[in-house]
Amino acid sequence: MGNTIKGQFPVSKFKNIETPFYYYDAELLRNTLTTIKEESGKYGYKVHYAIKANANHDVLALISSYGLGADCVSGNEVKAAIEAGFKPSDIVFAGVGKTDKEINFALDNDIFCFNVESVPELEVINDLATIKGKTAKVALRINPNIDAHTHQKITTGLNENKFGFSMNDIKFAADFIAKASNLELIGVHFHIGSQITDFSAYEDLCVRINELQDEFESQGITLKNINIGGGLGINYEHPNHFPMADFEGYFRLFSKNLKLREGQTLHCEPGRSVVAQCGSLITKVTYVKQGTNKKFVIVDAGMTDLIRPALYDAYHRIENITSDEQEETYDVVGPICESSDVFQKEVSLNETKRGDLLALRSAGAYGEIMASRYNLRDLPVGYLSDKI
Ligand code: LLP
Repeated sequence: MGNTIKGQFPVSKFKNIETPFYYYDAELLRNTLTTIKEESGKYGYKVHYAIKANANHDVLALISSYGLGADCVSGNEVKAAIEAGFKPSDIVFAGVGKTDKEINFALDNDIFCFNVESVPELEVINDLATIKGKTAKVALRINPNIDAHTHQKITTGLNENKFGFSMNDIKFAADFIAKASNLELIGVHFHIGSQITDFSAYEDLCVRINELQDEFESQGITLKNINIGGGLGINYEHPNHFPMADFEGYFRLFSKNLKLREGQTLHCEPGRSVVAQCGSLITKVTYVKQGTNKKFVIVDAGMTDLIRPALYDAYHRIENITSDEQEETYDVVGPICESSDVFQKEVSLNETKRGDLLALRSAGAYGEIMASRYNLRDLPVGYLSDKI
């Protein structure tokens, strides 16, 4: 794959920043958020940004300034969301293993809704809410048994996995809530997987939700909120041509296929599609090493800074942003003592030498937030373009 078209980077400003670091293009993030607001606004849908994709404070503050809600999966995420300006009344809280401490924190802050994943969890939320004299609003996370046609490690909607209630257990859970003293059932929640680019999976989800709504109604239950989770995919191969996910098509699909009832609100929880394309991991070339049959570019970022290639065989486009020389073929690898610390094999880069800067693209989601200190390395810092 040629490297002729590259992203735009303020390389001169990078000279004084210690590498590796994450760079977030604030303009692209703003454009993305404007599009999300416009497209979801057409139908009155409510968007909760999935904090797990990127919890950099400046990124969160920018997102919250557009009036999005937040989707959290830990007490610390709820805290980070509130600190970054998200309104507690717009926060949903999911996760199979919410601890008492996390539930109490969320109750104290009067969040919008707990997305509940099991009956034991319902019991605990009810008990803790009772102690506080509060009513906890809950939605049942339902496992709709839909194949999202995505990577095995990030698919979540098939029947036997740890997430949510299976279709068979919903009635029992709804009855439990009806009898519980301090719970209010306000909706249902789904999430079928991540990096979904085949929209037929979302069509299947709509069919399943429509069936379920009929079933609930036949039992006299009307749900105020339908939450379809996250998962909208982005284009990792061509971030310069497709800097934004297909929000227009995504929201239109639901408006066409989902039979929402009077007064019902549709919620969604995009993470990757909000932040992935605005972020790049910027790394400096430490050595270019001539092997027997290939050339290795050894960079100062490793799997500790961006684990997706090592963990999921994920592809991130790599560009040499300081060289315009003839292209050559290299393996781009990190410094970590693990053979899986390879960003990409046989990548075409403009001729690369020690000191050059490479950008690993589409790294704004599940990049900085998944960094670790393995090998006692420093955590990478993330900078919004406005602030450098
Ligand atoms: N809602 C729920 C309940 C989720 O589990 C997730 C992601 C999202 C929303 C946001 O999904 P998104 O729009 O970002 O696809 N670390 C993996 C991705 C794991 C996603 C887990 N759940 C990766 O790097 O690809």
